[in-house]
Amino acid sequence: MSQPSINQPSTTQSPEIIQTPDGSRTAMSTRYGEAYGSRHGAHTQARHVFVEGTETHLHPAPRVLEIGFGLGVNFRATLADAAARGVRLEYMAYEFDPAPAELLREVSEGEVGAEHPAWQQLLEQWPHAPLEIETENVRLTVYFADVLTADLPQDWATALYLDGFSPTRNPEVWTPEFVAQLAGTLAPGGILATYSAAGHVRRSLAAAGLEVERRPGATGKRECLRAIRGEGTQP
Ligand SMILES: C[S@@+](CC[C@H](N)C(=O)[O-])C[C@H]1O[C@@H](n2cnc3c(N)ncnc32)[C@H](O)[C@@H]1O
Repeated sequence: MSQPSINQPSTTQSPEIIQTPDGSRTAMSTRYGEAYGSRHGAHTQARHVFVEGTETHLHPAPRVLEIGFGLGVNFRATLADAAARGVRLEYMAYEFDPAPAELLREVSEGEVGAEHPAWQQLLEQWPHAPLEIETENVRLTVYFADVLTADLPQDWATALYLDGFSPTRNPEVWTPEFVAQLAGTLAPGGILATYSAAGHVRRSLAAAGLEVERRPGATGKRECLRAIRGEGTQP
């Protein structure tokens, strides 16, 4: 898979928008030939696998690290949940191949979290770096950079959304070496969630010192994973 050039929106073809059964939308990535989110329910996957999988919906002040930001479906699900509960949200994401702003707008129109000022500001600024938004108890930073060479925060994230394209198409974000680096970004008690339940992903998470749990998957997938950094452990 060729490495995309950073901070240049993909413009080769207009990506196909996919209407999913829960009423939310996702789109096909022209570069990876895969959908950004689940065709069986993009919002349902975001809520079940990532927001609930990391227990972010219960956290009094979540700090989320996401790889990668994609169309922002996970961000909007998290944003809507934090806003409904009246808690502060800090959200840091990496994205090295920003989709066109128009695509983010079309996918989000009338959808969960889309009316929130943080999302509206994101649409105005996308994809101009640095993308830093602070409004209504939300801090969002999107780094338009390759996460593999990023200087990641240590012991910081209460939640980590590992949401690359599939291990077959986007293998570099699923290697044992990179997963071990990700484990170090979790605060004690922090939880990593991913839609993949592949054996090699499970083994990498366990080798990184995390307690791995299989959970029922979102619609259309049997299982997904979460991996917890125990209190007082050093990954
Ligand atoms: C499955 S999509 C993410 C969907 C997204 N979480 C959402 O809610 O819409 C995977 C994303 O990871 C990004 N990505 C893949 N490898 C990356 C890397 N090495 N650094 C930064 N972003 C990467 C891709 O460009 C793509 O946008």
